[in-house]
Amino acid sequence: MHTGWNPLNDIWYDDDNSHDNTGSVVWSSQKVLWSYIYTNKDEFDLGSVVELGSGTGMLSNLILDLGAKHVTASDQYVETLKKTCSDKINIKTFCFGDNITDWLSNATLIIASDVLYLPDHPTKLCKTINSLVCTVVICSSMRCPSIIRDFEANLQRSFVKQLVDNHIIHIIK
Ligand SMILES: C[S@@+](CC[C@H](N)C(=O)[O-])C[C@H]1O[C@@H](n2cnc3c(N)ncnc32)[C@H](O)[C@@H]1O
Repeated sequence: MHTGWNPLNDIWYDDDNSHDNTGSVVWSSQKVLWSYIYTNKDEFDLGSVVELGSGTGMLSNLILDLGAKHVTASDQYVETLKKTCSDKINIKTFCFGDNITDWLSNATLIIASDVLYLPDHPTKLCKTINSLVCTVVICSSMRCPSIIRDFEANLQRSFVKQLVDNHIIHIIK
């Protein structure tokens, strides 16, 4: 049964409905975030970059190509990442809100794209972000405005936001 849609390529994909498999396609937020980081790369410390909710892992691969020294791709499901990521990328199973471990607390930059679309995402993601001190950059499509508002309400760190190509980028410092 075709139930999914790739917003970048207009490709429908098969969905077995057994779990959240939104990570099986590259979402437009990832493209916008990549472009934003590439354009502003001198502003970010690419020493140890962690991606949350990596999905296909394409952004992590691009960040590695950009010269990041250490890259970690993480998601609640990592089977796709094991197939798509360079062997130089660490792969971690991580659910938003899980306990913070070394690979997260040592990050110099945390990135995530299209990870604000379910009602529990704001509190769980903010639990993680509020426990960290490094810069976090998150790109979201505009399809869930109330969830983005919840996210901002739960953030206990200072942030700025920018609108880029119909997406919202939160830069949390
Ligand atoms: C819409 S996809 C976006 C994938 C990729 N970042 C992109 O922009 O193409 C959302 C991703 O977040 C992951 N995800 C959703 N809820 C999560 C949670 N609570 N903890 C960890 N990952 C989660 C999903 O498994 C999926 O890979």
